[in-house]
Amino acid sequence: MSKDKLWGGRFTQPTDKFVEEFTASIQFDKRLYHQDIRGSIAHARMLGKQGIIPMEDVEAIIHGLQQILQQIEAGTFDFSIALEDIHMNIESRLSASIGEAGKRLHTGRSRNDQVALDIRLYLRDEIVDISTYIDLLIDALLVQAEQNLDVIMPGFTHLQTAQPILFSHHLMAYVEMFKRDRARLDDCLKRVNVMPLGAGALAGTTFPIDREYVAEQLDFAAITRNSLDSVSDRDFALEFMADASILMMHLSRFSEELILWSTSSFKFIELSDGFCTGSSIMPQKKNPDVPELVRGKTGRVYGNLMALLTVMKSLPLAYNKDMQEDKEPLFDTIDTVKGSLKIFGDMIREMRVYEANMRRAAGQGFSTATDVADYLVRKGLPFRDAHEAVGNAVKYCIENEMDITELSLAEWQLFSPYFDTDIFSAITVEACINARNVPGGTARERVWSEITRCREGK
Ligand code: ARG
Repeated sequence: MSKDKLWGGRFTQPTDKFVEEFTASIQFDKRLYHQDIRGSIAHARMLGKQGIIPMEDVEAIIHGLQQILQQIEAGTFDFSIALEDIHMNIESRLSASIGEAGKRLHTGRSRNDQVALDIRLYLRDEIVDISTYIDLLIDALLVQAEQNLDVIMPGFTHLQTAQPILFSHHLMAYVEMFKRDRARLDDCLKRVNVMPLGAGALAGTTFPIDREYVAEQLDFAAITRNSLDSVSDRDFALEFMADASILMMHLSRFSEELILWSTSSFKFIELSDGFCTGSSIMPQKKNPDVPELVRGKTGRVYGNLMALLTVMKSLPLAYNKDMQEDKEPLFDTIDTVKGSLKIFGDMIREMRVYEANMRRAAGQGFSTATDVADYLVRKGLPFRDAHEAVGNAVKYCIENEMDITELSLAEWQLFSPYFDTDIFSAITVEACINARNVPGGTARERVWSEITRCREGK
C-alpha cells in the first residue's frame, strides 16, 4: 500500500484516508500544472546537459511531460488525492507512462525547491496580467478625465464641501494611486523573478547541476543565493499580497465614492445598468452592486495577507508543511484583484457623468470662502485677519439664509473695508479653480498637462 506513494519506502502502514485528504493540496495546487511541467522540462534538460542523466531519458521525459500537459488541458488527467500534490501527480503519471526515465526526473531536486519554483513562475505571469488590468483602468480614467475635463464638482474634506475642483482632477488622483500600485508590482516582480531550483530539500545537492542554465531557460533574471532561504522564503508572495491589499484599498475608496455619487441625494454619476441590480421589493431601486462587492472583497484580500503572515511568523528554517497554506490565500488574492480590476475598468469606461448636478453642488456650502480670504490677503490683510473676516461673513449668510454669492458690496464691506467690486468675479467657482495654478493644482491647464503627461506614459 505505502508503495503507491513516491515516498513510501520507509513506511509499513498505509496513510489514514482522512489524513490523506487533510494533508493533500492537489485540490488547489493543480492550477500550477503548467509551471510544474515547464520547470520539470528545464530541470531535465539541465540534468541531460550536465551528464547527470542520459540524453535519451531527457527526450523521453520531455515527450512524456508534454503528453501529460495535453491530458490536463483536455480534462482527461485523473488527479489523485493519494498522490498529495501536483508535483507527485505529474511525476507519478510520468513514471507510469515512460518507466525508468521518469523516475530519473527528480534527481537533484526536492519538492521544496520545486514548489518554490512553481509559485514564482505562476505569480510572475499573474503580476504581468494584473499590471495590464491596472493599465486598462488607468486608461478608462484618462478617457473620462479628457471627456469631462471642464466638469466642476465640490471637493470635500471630512466629506464636507471644501473647495470647488475639476472632476477630472479628482479622477486623476486615482490615476496617481493606480500608477503607484503598478510601480509597486513592477518592483515586487524583481523579487519574484529569482530562480530557487537547486536548493534541493534545504542544503543544495550533491550533483553537478547548472542553476544558471535552468534560470536562463525559464527567463529568470537571477538565481537565489542561499539554499535554506530558497525553500523557506515566501516574502515575494507576502509582498505581492501587501501590494494587492493597498491596491484593493484604493479600489475600495473609489467604490465608496461611486456609491455615494450614485445616490439620489448626490446624483453626480450613474453607473450603467450592467453593473447594477434591482431590488425584489422596491421597484425604484438600482443598486451599485459592483462597487459594493469590490469594497467588500477588499476584506478578504487583507485577510489573505494576514493569513500568510501568520502562517510564516514562527516557522523555523527551512521548509515546513505549514507553508502549503500559502497557496489558497495567494490564489484567492490573485483572482480577487484581477476580477475587481477588470470589472472596474469596464465600469468606469461606461460611467455617465451628471455635469449640472456636480456644478450646482460645487457652488454650495460656502465652497469659495477660502478664495474670499485669499482675495483679502492680496489686498494687504494678513491671512489670519482675512480668515476671521470671512468667517463673520459666512456666519451672516447662515443667519440670513443666503449664499455667499448673494452678498451685495455694501454687505461685504460690513466685514472688511478691503472689499471692492472685483470681489464678484474673484469668487466664481471657475475663478477659484483656475486660480489654483500650481503644479498639482486643480487649474484647468494643470490638470490638462497632467493628463497629457500620463498619456505620454510618464
Ligand atoms: N505540496 C507541498 C506544498 O505545497 C509541496 C512541498 C512538499 N514538501 C514536503 N517536504 N512535504 O508546500
